[in-house]
This record gives sequence, C-alpha cells and structure tokens, in this order.
Amino acid sequence: MSNAVQEFSRFAHEYDSYNVIQAEVAKTLVKMIPVSHHTTVLDIGCGRGEVYKNMVTSDLSFENFIALDSSLPMLTLHPSAHTIRKIHADFNTLDAFATISSDHNSLILSSSALQWSKDLDFTIGQMAQKSPTAYFAIFTANTFKTLHQIAGISSPIYSDSALRDTIEKYYHASFELKEYRLSFGSIREMFHYIKKSGVSGGEKHLSYKQTKELMKQYPLDYLEFEVLYVTGNSLSI
Ligand SMILES: C[S@@+](CC[C@H](N)C(=O)[O-])C[C@H]1O[C@@H](n2cnc3c(N)ncnc32)[C@H](O)[C@@H]1O
Repeated sequence: MSNAVQEFSRFAHEYDSYNVIQAEVAKTLVKMIPVSHHTTVLDIGCGRGEVYKNMVTSDLSFENFIALDSSLPMLTLHPSAHTIRKIHADFNTLDAFATISSDHNSLILSSSALQWSKDLDFTIGQMAQKSPTAYFAIFTANTFKTLHQIAGISSPIYSDSALRDTIEKYYHASFELKEYRLSFGSIREMFHYIKKSGVSGGEKHLSYKQTKELMKQYPLDYLEFEVLYVTGNSLSI
C-alpha cells in the first residue's frame, strides 16, 4: 500500500457518493487478506455490505458470513443469502458477541465502523476472543483535521496512537496509516457531506452559527480523512 495521499473528487463518481471513501477503504481492507479459506467471516459494523461485496469478488472463500450492525435499515440493505446470518446488535454490548460462535479458522473484519466504539477496550477485547485473525480499517482523529483545528474542537473519534495502544493489548498487530482527500465543487457541498457522512458524527456539536462561520474560514477545497489499517493475530486464541 502506498503512503501517498489518495485523492477523490465528489464529482468523479456518478453514484451517490456519500460513502466514496468508505467504499475505497472496504476494498483496500479486503485486498489485504491473503488468499485463504475460512469457515466463518464476521463483519462488525457491516453497513450495507461493502465488505461482503468485495469478499465475493475476491479469491477468498468462506462457508458462512456473519453481518453485524446496530442499524436495522443498514442490515436490510445488506445482501442476503442462505450463507449470511444478519445480527442486529450494538458492538458496545455483550449481547452482540454472546450468540457468535467461531472456531480457529474464522476471520473477523471491520471496516469504517470501530471509530464508533464507546469503549474500544471492550469491543476489541470481545472481538479478539472470536477469531484468531483480524483485519480492521478505522478512521482516526486526523479525519477532518483542518476543520477541527479551525473550529477549535477536538475530534470525537480516537487518535491513531490511542487505537494502536488498545489494539496491541489484544493483538499482535501490524499497522498502516493512509490519508485520503475528497474534493468538492463548493464549500456548501462539503458541509452537506459532513452532515451526511458516517465518519465523524456529522459534527453535531457545532451550532448553525458556528458552522456558517467555519464555512467562511475553511481554507481547503477538500476534506481530509485518515484511516488506520490493522492486521492482527489475537493474543487470546
Ligand atoms: C461508516 S459505516 C461502514 C459500513 C461498512 N462496514 C462499510 O465499510 O461500508 C459504519 C457502520 O457501523 C455501524 N455502527 C455504528 N455504531 C455501531 C455499533 N455500536 N454497533 C454496531 N454497528 C455500529 C453503523 O450502523 C454503520 O452501518
């Protein structure tokens, strides 16, 4: 994976591109997995199935796929098949993990979702008990970095180092950081995107007035994203 910043334009994509970066991230994550066969693949925070869609077009094979998400509308949009079990659950709770059984040949994945863990120690600790091997892609606090600096607010999501520290408690892990830029035709479009994107909480804590002020001051025609890619071997299995 190259460390160069990967650039995207909101207008280069015909389809609804609210999840242009997430789609790219899921693709990259699945490409990191060596060709292999797994009994069960677990996708934590599966959304509408970006990981699953990339898995079925890859050389990877599996018998069962467990798709877990706390959003019912997302799970409804996830592909269905007799090999797919959908679990409607919150990965911040024990319930989410209680009914998942796994074995030594299962694989756990999570793309663009774990930045939302309320207690990363808990979520990662639970995940490490479910599968010997893990691949994660997690947005870091450097996502929307300039925007946060100008607004004088701190990111609502974990920093790269906080993520690494927690993950290393449960996994023998290797890490790769990757930056992305998404450019826009207008500042209005950009702020509309921030509201809709699932990456950083939609900057809920900014008032309308603060947002307007921020729009005047924002110096870039793109948004910044940073993703930590993780390959992990569980220390508990
Ligand atoms: C940005 S989307 C990524 C979806 C998908 N993995 C992808 O790569 O396109 C984040 C997903 O995490 C889910 N999510 C957020 N918090 C969650 C939680 N506490 N428990 C389970 N899923 C959660 C959301 O519902 C959403 O589907």
